[in-house]
Formats: sequence, structure tokens, C-alpha cells
Amino acid sequence: MSKQTYLDHVQNRYGIGSEGMLTDFLSRRDKRLLLADRIDLSAMVERYGAPLEIAYCPLITDQVERMLAWAAAAREQAGYDGAFLYAYATKANFAEEVVRTALAAGAHYETSATADVLIAHHLWRQGLLEESRYMFCNGSKEDGYIDAIVAMRTAGYERIVPILDSLDELDALLYRCHAPLLLGVRERHPADKVDPSHRGGERFGLTQEEIGQVAERIAGTAHQLVIYHAMVGSQMEDLDDWMARLARSAANYCRLRRRVPSLRAFNFGGGMPTSAYALDFAFDYQSFLRRLMGELATSCAEFAVPQPDLIGEFGRYTVASHNVYLLEIGSVKHGQATPGTAEVEPWYLMNGSLMVSLPDALIVEGQQFVVLPLDRWETPAQGVRLGGRRTCDSDDFFPRPSQPPLILPEDGQGLVVAVFGVGAYQQMISGRGGAHHCLNPEMRRIIIEQDGDALVVREVAPQNLGTIMSLLGYNTEALEPVTRSQPTQVDRKPAREMARVLRTPRRRQFVPRPRALSTRETRGSRPGV
Ligand SMILES: Cc1ncc(COP(=O)(O)O)c(C=O)c1O
Repeated sequence: MSKQTYLDHVQNRYGIGSEGMLTDFLSRRDKRLLLADRIDLSAMVERYGAPLEIAYCPLITDQVERMLAWAAAAREQAGYDGAFLYAYATKANFAEEVVRTALAAGAHYETSATADVLIAHHLWRQGLLEESRYMFCNGSKEDGYIDAIVAMRTAGYERIVPILDSLDELDALLYRCHAPLLLGVRERHPADKVDPSHRGGERFGLTQEEIGQVAERIAGTAHQLVIYHAMVGSQMEDLDDWMARLARSAANYCRLRRRVPSLRAFNFGGGMPTSAYALDFAFDYQSFLRRLMGELATSCAEFAVPQPDLIGEFGRYTVASHNVYLLEIGSVKHGQATPGTAEVEPWYLMNGSLMVSLPDALIVEGQQFVVLPLDRWETPAQGVRLGGRRTCDSDDFFPRPSQPPLILPEDGQGLVVAVFGVGAYQQMISGRGGAHHCLNPEMRRIIIEQDGDALVVREVAPQNLGTIMSLLGYNTEALEPVTRSQPTQVDRKPAREMARVLRTPRRRQFVPRPRALSTRETRGSRPGV
């Protein structure tokens, strides 16, 4: 009997064809893998070599526009009065081109720390963050974070909204900020409603009693409570469970709205799942939004309060898919069977480090990444484990022990694999630009951005050893004879130079831009109509 090929495996396992779209951002045409149906990954490796990172920013724009289109359709179906606001959760990826692209696509801004607000302040000064955008400032706020918020508000940015995580934050803001503030409260979910296997989110927010105290404290002041924040968790793929938790929060919103007439938006926070991590991903975004709007409308009718604007803070969803790593298998080592074990998968050792480049593989239990070979799809396949050659750490492998092996072509030597879904959190957690485990240098990065009809390509050289050594305090002068590496110029190349690796762009749909959080004067009217 002939052995199953890699193509047989993906067809049987995921029901996808040998050609055409594999996911909403990944395709195979003429036996070549394309990112966004446009970037030929094999051609990129031929041109730049591996390891290589590709950041394709137009996918960020697509993600924002798609969600806005689903929200517009959901509002239409649900006959929902409130507006929908898309905010980018910058903690997922702070890279300048990423934040700039999300803002250009119409996103509002969600912050999680002091530096985040300082960046936003700078972007506002540069004209990249428009005053019409809201800033939702989440997280537990130390003095520096409060100061940064107050400084931006005092400088004239009116739509900055601290989302209170404790009563102390309210005291600090009231004491330090003399300009009228828009404020939000984050709901603290009761202990018995928090997933016992993951209690990390339990610490955020205010209890219902504390929220009541906030309302009392700011009543009659120039400040207004405008947002109720009800984030449940991350990567919420069980729609019914998510909806049940949000329904409780919707009722809490309505109770508060009866006491606080300035309240006008319901923020469901982050957690939106993404297609970036699994070839068989399925989630009906439009239905989710329609059900949430329906739930809010029902609650609002019950409590006789107006329907709020709806806010989502999208981290992973916005950026996970836009980055890909391309790594080469430089050495294959057979696995050693133990007595009683028939077969043990071989090690495919690659020119990178998985634990440095994909920290979530180690940190997040069960975290998956899509790993596909660039070619050899028609050849026999087998189960393997990927190992990082650039550390000598026994934990530097994927998939993790609790997961089944990865299926890849049997002929592993020289194979280049693409690791998808790496655009969110991985580089932030790993500490981009820093000294990494076993001093694994960061790979060459190709950043592709849309500029009108053209694509602009920038190449960032691999991290050089001299830089890493100085970060660690070594006198690099002394080390130079051994470690010198030539920094490559970061250049801006015209799109035509990329003609060999790019495909014709798909046609864009018209998608409405997000609307502003509606003011009380416009309440009752149906935005967009
Ligand atoms: C308050 C808040 N909003 C948004 C996000 C983004 O979540 P995600 O990446 O799941 O969209 C997070 C993630 O931690 C968060 O804490």
C-alpha cells in the first residue's frame, strides 16, 4: 500500500483542496503557498533566504474592514440603535507600522500601560491618531499611567477614557485631572463565574458595589461615566458560553444606566477568536455580533433604557495573521524508540528557536500554530517534532508533549516550513530587539505595507551579535574581530522590485468606516441610516 502523502493528510484531516484558499488569509496556487493570496512564500525564501519573518500589513486592514462590515450587517439585521466601535488592543503588537495600519483602517485605540499612552500621545502629535478616535485605557494603573492619561487629557485630547480598575484610580484621577474626563468602569466577574482552571482574569475590575460608589463619587462633578466594560476572557470560541456571560453583564449595564444617564456604551473587551491558529477554524462573527446586539436590545427594553453603543477591543483578531516565520530544517535526527514503543517521530531541527519565537507554545496550555511545508506536498508524510537548533534547551520543541506530532513530508532535510499566526503577542512577550535565550538572533524581517495601489517593502537586517553583546554589557570593541557582522541598510523599495513575489491584488469591497461613539443628542437616531 502506498504511504499517505502530505497532501492526502491535509485533505483528509482538514477537508481542504490541493489548490485554492486554505483559510481566509492563506492559499495554494500552482503548488505554491501564498499569504493573503498575494505573497508567494517560496519566492520570498528564494530572494531573502530563511530564517525570515514577513509582516504583511494589508491583512490588518482586511481584518478591521471585515469586522466593521459584519457589525454593519448585524446592526441592520438586529435593528440595533447603537453604533459599533472597533478598537485595536495595541498590547498584541506595538510595532509602529502595525499601530499605524490599524489606525488608518479606522480603529480606535485600547491601551494597557504607561508607554502605550505615551506612544498614543506621540501619534496624536504627529497627526496619526485623530481626535475623533476614542482611547480606552485599561489595566491596573500605577502613578505613571495615571500621569500619562492626565497629561494627554490636559493637552486637549478629550476622547481618552480611563477604564477604572480600582477605587484608588478614581481618587488619583479626580485629584490630578482638572479637565472634565470621560470614564469607564470594568466589571469584576464574581468568583464563582470565573473559570477555575484559569483565574488570571479574576483580579480585574470593580465589584457591583464598587461601581455604585464610582457613580456616587462622580455625580454632580464635571466628569462623566460613559462606558461599562465587561471583558470575559481570551479566545472565546464557545459562542453560547460567551453570550451567557455577556447577558449577565448586559443586565448589569442596564441597572447602572438607570442610575447614571451619562452611561452610553457597552464594551465587551477582547477575546475575539481568529482563524490564524487552525486550518479548520470556524466562528460566525456576524452571528456573534447580532446575538450580542439582540441580547442588549432585550435587556434595554426590559429596563427601559436606550441601547448602548457597542465597543470591542481586538488584539489577536487584528494582528495574529499578518506575520509569518519561514524556517529551514537543517538537520534531521531519528527518534529513539523505547522498549514497547513501535515508532518514535524524528526531530526536524530548524534554524531558529521555537521557544524564543513562539513563547505562547510554552506558556499557553494547548496553544496551536499552523505549520505548513512550502513544498513536497505530493511526497510521503510522517509525524515529526520541530526542534530549535539555536538553543540547546530541551524545552525548545513543538508540538508540546501533550499534543500529537506534526505531520510533515518525510524528506525533511532542507525543507522550509511556514509558521503562521505569529503576529499577536509572540514578539511582545519574547521582547523584540532584546537579548534572547542562547542569544538566538532575531531573523531578517520583511515589512510590506500598502501605499495607495502599490506595496512598499522594507527589509530589516537580522539582529547582529554586536548589538546583543552590548545589551548584555560586553565591550563589543573587544569582541569585534570575532563577532563583526555587517548591518544592512533598512531601505524602502518600490513595489515593482517585488513583482516576482507578488500577485495581483484582490478587489476591495466598500466597507463603512466606524462611527463615533454617539453623543446623547444623537441618541435614538440610527447611525449609518
Ligand atoms: C482589556 C483587554 N482588552 C483587549 C484585550 C485583547 O484581547 P485579545 O487579544 O484576545 O483580542 C485584552 C487582552 O489581554 C485585554 O486585557
